Amino acid sequence: MNRAETMLMNNPARARLQRSYEVPLLRRLGAQVAGADVIEIGCGRGVGTELVLERMGAAHVSALDLDPAMIDRARRRLTRFGGRVEVQVGDACHVPFADASVDAVVDFGVIHHVPAWREAVAEAARVLRPGGQLIFEEVTRHALDRWSYRTFLEHPEHDRFTAEEFVSQLVRHGFTLPQPAVTRFFGDFVIGVAVKPTTQSCGAQ
Ligand SMILES: C[S@@+](CC[C@H](N)C(=O)[O-])C[C@H]1O[C@@H](n2cnc3c(N)ncnc32)[C@H](O)[C@@H]1O
Repeated sequence: MNRAETMLMNNPARARLQRSYEVPLLRRLGAQVAGADVIEIGCGRGVGTELVLERMGAAHVSALDLDPAMIDRARRRLTRFGGRVEVQVGDACHVPFADASVDAVVDFGVIHHVPAWREAVAEAARVLRPGGQLIFEEVTRHALDRWSYRTFLEHPEHDRFTAEEFVSQLVRHGFTLPQPAVTRFFGDFVIGVAVKPTTQSCGAQ
């Protein structure tokens, strides 16, 4: 992330949006992590992890981010949760967990930053247990093509996804969406909950 986006993310307004809008919407769309073992990819400064623990009642969250500076911030923010949280530098495309080992993967606006974004989807599918949830809030190509995003923020430029392409990739991995994903802000964001099948019928292509 460049400086402008870091300032946007490490901002109380971003935390408020997550707390008062995104988490309630995700819950209405079926996100359920009470008592669950969760990974948050791209945790940033740890606000999402805090909400997943406090508001959504997860038992444990492993919070990963590629940026060591963000991980330092998250570690400081999350100390009070003690053994319920583990914070480490990590890549959404190479999650250091075994196959089918967690109940939920949470993605608050991270996968659109990943050049090989399909690999991040595949990694989430790999580490989730059957019946586990991929809970996502993502930024689409529609937003990334805007003048404001191109001028002030920094993202991979090629092969970005529309809302439909993101959901199709999930379906390719066998995920189902019990409630359709929703788009917000003229299609700039896609938000939803995808469930890994309980029988192994999936395969990436
Ligand atoms: C837009 S910020 C979102 C931060 C936080 N999730 C939030 O919603 O406020 C994207 C975050 O993803 C991280 N990130 C980018 N690529 C990543 C990757 N391949 N693996 C893990 N984290 C990544 C960045 O360092 C950054 O903290």
